[in-house]
Amino acid sequence: MDNWREIESGAIMTAGEAAKKTPKLFGIPTGVEGLDDLFFTTRIENGKPVRVPLGGIPSRAVINITGVPDTGKSLIAEQFTVKQAALGYPVIFVTVESPAPFVTQGLMQRAAAMGIEWGNVEDNIVLIDAASNTRLREDVDVLLDTIAYAIRSFDTKSVVIDSITGLFESKEMMARHVVRRIFNFLKKWGQTGIFISQKRSTQEEESAEAAGGYAVAHIVDGTVVLHKKLITKPWEEEAFGVPIGDVLRTIRIDGMRLCGHDTKTHVMEITETGLVKVGPPLSEIVKRRRG
Ligand SMILES: Nc1ncnc2c1ncn2[C@@H]1O[C@H](COP(=O)(O)OP(=O)(O)O)[C@@H](O)[C@H]1O
Ligand SMILES: [Mg+2]
Repeated sequence: MDNWREIESGAIMTAGEAAKKTPKLFGIPTGVEGLDDLFFTTRIENGKPVRVPLGGIPSRAVINITGVPDTGKSLIAEQFTVKQAALGYPVIFVTVESPAPFVTQGLMQRAAAMGIEWGNVEDNIVLIDAASNTRLREDVDVLLDTIAYAIRSFDTKSVVIDSITGLFESKEMMARHVVRRIFNFLKKWGQTGIFISQKRSTQEEESAEAAGGYAVAHIVDGTVVLHKKLITKPWEEEAFGVPIGDVLRTIRIDGMRLCGHDTKTHVMEITETGLVKVGPPLSEIVKRRRG
């Protein structure tokens, strides 16, 4: 017992001690119609488990939304931001790809489409423009200090990063390191997190894989996979009810550590005003069409 070297005694605790620090589980509305009810907990009633919808993503979860370009990732990020701001919860939006004035334009359009007065949300949305700032994109310490400063200044509850993959664009071997650092940081600050990650078109289409390999999916609490499929064959048109030449959009919750969730692939719509809406499971549509 005498020759023990340095130990990290703070990392040792009983489960009973840890349980005292476990945050209460409740839903954070996403602003995406049809998505919030796909997350649930279970309660035992008369000896049988009953689903209780969470009404949003689990509080303090860090969720990764992945898909190839133009699958609706940024729209979901913007809808989430506007919804949280409208509920009165300040939210940080770290923009890595599109400079702040352009993101703001998108946020204003999303608010209008959601029927939310811009004047009621603009002061609850805190933009951090990493698209226009090389240091924020390339130095994770500077980025985290900047986010910490914003969390403290505005008392924010959630942080959206569009995109996390943009933070290791030219150095994918850093992906795990960067994602782990930001994940731990958000946990420490008690923030709910939305990471947007770019999928390369060469990656297996409906997998949770993102640029940087599986780095992102393994570290975060949960992953949502967006997919679009161009309908080119008569059987597809027949089965899905989408005309040849049109795009079938889908969404699937690939995993979620903190609560129960629907596991089916659902159809997804992007409305003319640019709002993502989640529809019924694809299997239900196929079944209905086959009568
Ligand atoms: N009013 C609209 N505003 C923005 N995008 C719209 C609108 N209507 C349809 N879209 C479509 O939604 C998609 C936007 O997806 P976006 O969330 O920007 O994709 P990404 O997954 O690359 O972030 C585009 O394909 C765009 O054509
Ligand atoms: Mg985008």
